[in-house]
Amino acid sequence: MRWLPASPYEPDAERSESVRRACITGGAGFIGSTLADRLSARGVEVVILDNFSTGRREFVAELLAQGGNTLVEGDVLDERVLARAVAGCDCVFHLQANADVRHGLEAPRRDLEQNTIATSNVLEAMRAAGVTKIVFASTGSVYGEPAVFPTPEDAPFPVQTSLYAASKLAGEGLVSAYATGYGFSGLICRFVSILGERYTHGHVFDFYCQLKRDPTVLHVLGDGRQEKSYLYVQDCVSAILAALERHEDDSGVHIYNLGSEETVFVDQSIAIITGHLGLAPAIVHGGGRRGWIGDSPLIQLDTTRIRALGWEPQLSIRESILRTLDWFEANDYAWSAAGATRTVAAGEYRS
Ligand SMILES: NC(=O)c1ccc[n+]([C@@H]2O[C@H](COP(=O)([O-])OP(=O)(O)OC[C@H]3O[C@@H](n4cnc5c(N)ncnc54)[C@H](O)[C@@H]3O)[C@@H](O)[C@H]2O)c1
Repeated sequence: MRWLPASPYEPDAERSESVRRACITGGAGFIGSTLADRLSARGVEVVILDNFSTGRREFVAELLAQGGNTLVEGDVLDERVLARAVAGCDCVFHLQANADVRHGLEAPRRDLEQNTIATSNVLEAMRAAGVTKIVFASTGSVYGEPAVFPTPEDAPFPVQTSLYAASKLAGEGLVSAYATGYGFSGLICRFVSILGERYTHGHVFDFYCQLKRDPTVLHVLGDGRQEKSYLYVQDCVSAILAALERHEDDSGVHIYNLGSEETVFVDQSIAIITGHLGLAPAIVHGGGRRGWIGDSPLIQLDTTRIRALGWEPQLSIRESILRTLDWFEANDYAWSAAGATRTVAAGEYRS
């Protein structure tokens, strides 16, 4: 008998006081569409800006069928599209990005354009429209391989180990500079890897696709001893909303780690996945402490700052993995094309 808790997420009863109309760049993506649903449930009018490069129409169909929400389909690198999307908003949640970490070195301009220049464009469109509140989706990868665990927000400035994280850190810098220079209010959220419904990339996705193609063998990059932290997508969105609505000072820039202090080894998450699917594949490790250049052998963020606002995660990593698997089982469309056609390299994590 599979065990999963009942969903801890009833529709949000609280109405948003600080935001009435919000633009979500990347709002058709995994995290963006979940955030869109939660904001809409709080009475916020949502504008989704997305080019559907990795986002899915299925994720926003219900939201857009409700009155009051809008889709602006296009590219954040197109200034006219951005101007349309941010007009009349009082907050922009900037979640659009190239979230592929591992393949950054194969196309070195991609992270610069999609993550750093895109962020600059979003900030400029906001300035032109008089919108001064931004929430920026950053990443725990900006810490590179830190010396302190759990890693706090003010850990010594990191040496960067991937173009993805470097481009996100540059984005953080731009948000800070707009806060200082133009009086923006900036909220920077550094996420660990996120799991849950609508999950479309990352290690659970890759392992699941591999096992669907061949349930007898699973190839794993690295030695399987990489230790990672994960957070359930609804917990991630609750933390974003808590940070937005509960922190005291609304001016300047505020940085929050969003994660759980729980960690699992890659091999442990494989045991959860194969156990849940009732499989016993041969596990073939590629070897080495890191799965690829830029993979961090240990990720564990200090979440004292966000917890001080009264937030805490509702699901464990194990429960988050099980929910993700159950969502795959119920939604073939989300993985079958990739699973059938792509040769997914073992553990080809995206963020
Ligand atoms: N998922 C994670 O584990 C994780 C971890 C750390 C940080 N993040 C960050 O959180 C944010 C959301 O991640 P996600 O997992 O939901 O990724 P995602 O790929 O599902 O979402 C990104 C969205 O942006 C859209 N998009 C991409 N480029 C675009 C462009 N040029 N113009 C318009 N739309 C474009 C895509 O279609 C997609 O809907 C990203 O900024 C990512 O870097 C995610």
